Amino acid sequence: MAGKKLLIKHAAELITCAGPAPKQGPAMGDIGMIPDGALLAEDGRISWVGPTAALPALDESQWEVIDAAGQCVLPGFVDSHTHMVFGGYRAEEFFWRLSGTPYLEILERGGGILNTVEATRAASLAELKELAGRRLRSMLAMGVTTVEGKSGYGLDKETELRQLAVMAELNREQPVEIVPTFMGAHAVPPEYKGRTDAYVDYLIAEVLPAVSAQGIAEFCDVFCEQGVFSLAQSRRLLTAAKGLGLKAKLHADEIVALGGAELAAELEACSADHLLQASAAGIAALGKKRTVATLLPMTAFCLREPYARARAMIDSGVAVALATDYNPGSCFSHSIPLVAALAAIQLGMTPAEVVTALTINGAAAVNRADRVGSLEVGKQADAVILEYPSHLFLVYHAGMNLVDKVIKQGQLSWSKADNIDNIHREGKL
Ligand code: NIG
Ligand code: FE
Repeated sequence: MAGKKLLIKHAAELITCAGPAPKQGPAMGDIGMIPDGALLAEDGRISWVGPTAALPALDESQWEVIDAAGQCVLPGFVDSHTHMVFGGYRAEEFFWRLSGTPYLEILERGGGILNTVEATRAASLAELKELAGRRLRSMLAMGVTTVEGKSGYGLDKETELRQLAVMAELNREQPVEIVPTFMGAHAVPPEYKGRTDAYVDYLIAEVLPAVSAQGIAEFCDVFCEQGVFSLAQSRRLLTAAKGLGLKAKLHADEIVALGGAELAAELEACSADHLLQASAAGIAALGKKRTVATLLPMTAFCLREPYARARAMIDSGVAVALATDYNPGSCFSHSIPLVAALAAIQLGMTPAEVVTALTINGAAAVNRADRVGSLEVGKQADAVILEYPSHLFLVYHAGMNLVDKVIKQGQLSWSKADNIDNIHREGKL
């Protein structure tokens, strides 16, 4: 997607988030702020970054010029954990949970994830794609330029491949880059109820090889949780996936402290996600590896579970990313503004750490830190321009979408001024 040459100048703050990636522990506070900053992009890539006063001489008539006076420019956000391709909704379950029925009990009764599996199996590729495409446009409007998407609502070969095919098609047709993850081990389907090991055998023998042969996923993820997939089953599946060239991710220690963080460190997974119940030993183990701890505070908020111990993690040298976990069950929201507010107010992260976690560390969590996540020469020109002059407003103006413009690969891909009609209208379907 080669764009016209782009010049952004006079940004009140230009935040580079320059690597090395991932930023671990105290390095997360270093966001590389340039006051009165400028950036040049050519052929979709960043060719220069620095203070506006030091811009090389150029003929502005040959460039698309954005004057960002009074605005903050950041790397495009990377939402590194979502389940964005699904059919159906589970509004009623949300209120069962609020009235006291636990999330895992609803799943055990055949609801929860399995409810969405039924609706997703019944949906065509075209239907799933239409819905996911609308969701992506809404994410873009919140500054997301790269998103991870998981399968895991098929739990059979055909539907898992259909979910991944939706992502592959959308990747060719719209600006937000989708990083595809195979998550066949999201729940045990009804056909295998009570036979979890046999289901893992099936995934390893039949589904993983098909996913790998089609080159349609980069990661493999497992819901390692009490009553879902054990540590041993998760290790077996992820080891097989790694053997086929997929990288590992893990839903770890979300509701019960099983030792998922320790397993993620042992397997050198690219990320360990959730970690609400991660043990001190698990946090210490992650701090010794480059495994990114992906925290999903909106899920804790919606499930009324205790928040992950972000401060202990950062202080132990862990690289923390923040993501939405957008899905129709535990967290039906892809609000980056709410993630930022909860991370600062409830998890105790500083605004600079929040920015790092939503950009360069999110990019590292999806193995893209060589291409996106920071405003550095040679990287993709993916940037967000806020309506306000400082990154502090991301937290201070709590829960509000502050995005004025979004640039993807050097192209203006969303602008508040002329996209009022282009926002998320899923409810009108
Ligand atoms: O990350 N915990 C497992 N998976 C999702 C929830 C999926 C769902 O409820 O549909 C999560 O919370
Ligand atoms: Fe999740």
